[in-house]
Amino acid sequence: MDASAARQGGEAYEIFMGRWSRPVADRFLDWLHAPAGADWIDVGSGTGVLTASILERCAPASVVAVDSSETFTDYARHRFDDRRLCIDTVDATSLPVADGSRDVAVAGLFLNFLPSMEEGLREMRRVLRPGGILGFYVWDYPDGGMGMLDVFWSAAAQLDPAAAALSERARFPDCSHAGLTRLCQAVGIEPAISTIDTISEHEDFEEYWRPFTLAQSTARRYLDGLDDEARARLRGALAQRLDHGGPIRLPARAWCVKAQIPD
Ligand SMILES: C[S@@+](CC[C@H](N)C(=O)[O-])C[C@H]1O[C@@H](n2cnc3c(N)ncnc32)[C@H](O)[C@@H]1O
Repeated sequence: MDASAARQGGEAYEIFMGRWSRPVADRFLDWLHAPAGADWIDVGSGTGVLTASILERCAPASVVAVDSSETFTDYARHRFDDRRLCIDTVDATSLPVADGSRDVAVAGLFLNFLPSMEEGLREMRRVLRPGGILGFYVWDYPDGGMGMLDVFWSAAAQLDPAAAALSERARFPDCSHAGLTRLCQAVGIEPAISTIDTISEHEDFEEYWRPFTLAQSTARRYLDGLDDEARARLRGALAQRLDHGGPIRLPARAWCVKAQIPD
């Protein structure tokens, strides 16, 4: 892939979502409390937000980082220079490691994007050794916990009721305590579930709005489908809600889940 396309795509993700994922990744890893010297796999690793935290904080023996997007894996390959890390461009439903070969399998802001979260979790479980640790986090979409996105879709739906179905709130109903508990039960693991509360702080309205126009996302595809007038109306409706002349602070709350695989 063209290096400048990967850089652009990766940077757009970082501005749109990576910067809000990062503080959650750090706190998630502190909570996960995995031992040093472990063999890790980071599934849906994207531009490497969680990967970077693992390398910095967890003293891993090795990390396999897996994502299906060549744009993001190329971006990550340029970002890291660490012999413990191997980056693979593959689908998460077919991880490139043997059964029972990893100590820790993690996924940050990823599982809900699979057609079946259960299939993704089973695959993560497959690669873990007995006693291994499985952990992941997702935004608390159903309760509006990713405020930056929630307010976007709420304003869009007020102008265009069809937009409501595109919101993460509507698309990811299982990113709730009950949904995640059910999911873990379905794959036979006993989870500990907690929340991590952070804030997305945007300098001003322009800095809130611009990332929506840059990064590949459902919101960007929606904006691209609007004519200039409808787009300006949505921007205006959002400005009315959010632009009070100063920084914009919105909740960014994630559910985090961990479980130990029985010995
Ligand atoms: C919101 S990003 C999360 C990236 C990173 N873990 C983070 O916390 O910033 C979701 C990632 O899942 C990846 N993804 C989506 N479907 C996938 C699949 N079937 N297999 C592997 N990766 C996938 C996307 O390419 C994207 O990088």
